[in-house]
Amino acid sequence: MNLSSNELRRLLTTSDPTVLDELGAEARRLRDEIYGRRVFIRGLIEISNHCRNNCLYCGIRRDAACRRYRLAPEQIMDCCRTGHALGFRTFVLQGGEDAWFTDEKLCALVGDIKREFPDSAVTLSLGERGRESFARLREAGADRYLLRHETADRDHYALLHPAAMSFDHRMQCLADLRDLGFQVGAGFMVGSPGQTVDTLLKDLAFIADFRPEMVGIGPFIPADGTPFEHEPAGSVEITLRLLAIIRILHPRVLLPATTALGTLHPTGRERAVEAGANVVMPNLSPQDTRALYAIYNNKLSTGSEAAESLTDLRLRMQAIGYEMPVARGDFQIE
Ligand code: 5AD
Repeated sequence: MNLSSNELRRLLTTSDPTVLDELGAEARRLRDEIYGRRVFIRGLIEISNHCRNNCLYCGIRRDAACRRYRLAPEQIMDCCRTGHALGFRTFVLQGGEDAWFTDEKLCALVGDIKREFPDSAVTLSLGERGRESFARLREAGADRYLLRHETADRDHYALLHPAAMSFDHRMQCLADLRDLGFQVGAGFMVGSPGQTVDTLLKDLAFIADFRPEMVGIGPFIPADGTPFEHEPAGSVEITLRLLAIIRILHPRVLLPATTALGTLHPTGRERAVEAGANVVMPNLSPQDTRALYAIYNNKLSTGSEAAESLTDLRLRMQAIGYEMPVARGDFQIE
C-alpha cells in the first residue's frame, strides 16, 4: 500500500467513507499474519490521580478541582490477585506524576508483583521520571513503560502543555526507556486542540522511525475544569483510520483499542479491533476509585466488577471473531 505523505494526507482528509474499509482490510491482514485473530488483555490499575503536572487537556491536572486518591500498595496487590485469577498476565500501573510513589516504593511494589506473579508482565505508565529512576524500575523487574509522546510537533506540544514541561525532555524519556530495555509505548490524542494534518504526519513519521512496541491513540475528549473544556472531541472515524495506518506503517505494533474510543462510540473498541488494534485494557481498579480517575468527561467505566466487564468484553470480541488468550502478549520480534 502506498503511504507517501501525500497519500496519507488524502487518507486523513477525504470524506470518502470507503477508505476506512480499505485501510482496515490491509491492517487486519498484517495483524492476523503476525498475531492471529487474538486480542491481548492488560489489567489497568489506576494507582493515583495526584499529579504535579498541569497538562491543559487533562482532567487530573494539578489545577483541577477533582477529589484526589491514591491506592496503597496492598490494594494494588489485591487488584493484581483479582486480575491474575481472571486470566490477566499483564498489569498496567497507571497514574499521575505523584511524588508519593518514590522509586523505593515503586521498586518494592514491582518486585512484589513479579515475585507473586512471575508469569506476568508489569507495565508502568507514570509519566516522566529521570533516567536513574527508570533504570531502578527496570532493575526491579518492570517490563514495559507507556509514555505517550502526545505530539511530535514542538509548537503543538507547547500549546498542549505548560511552559514547565518540555518536548525535549519527553523525547529524552522515551529514548532512555528504550535504551534501558523497556518495551516502550508512545502515542497521542486524535483531535487535540491545535492538531493539524501536518502535526499528525509528524506523529506518523515519529512512529515509523522510533517504532515503539506499543502505540496508544484515542480521541481527545474535553474534560471539565480544564482550559480545553469547551473544545470539541476528536473524530472516531479519523481515530480508526489512524489505527489502521499505524498498523500498516508498523505491522508488529501492539495497538490498544482505547477506552476513549469506547467512551465516544458504543462499539468503538470493536471497530478499533476491526481497524487493526489488538489490545484492550479493562479496568482492574477498585470500584470506588474508578470514577475519580477522570482524565476526561464520561470516561467509560461500567461500574461492573472486573470479572463482569471482562466477560462483556470477551463476548464482544467473540462476536466479531477474536479470542482473548491468557498470555502476556509481548511484542513479537522479527
Ligand atoms: N482526552 C483524551 N485523552 C486524554 N489523555 C489525557 N487527557 C485526555 C483527554 N482529555 C490521554 C493523554 C495521556 C493519557 C494518559 O491519556 O494522551 O497521555
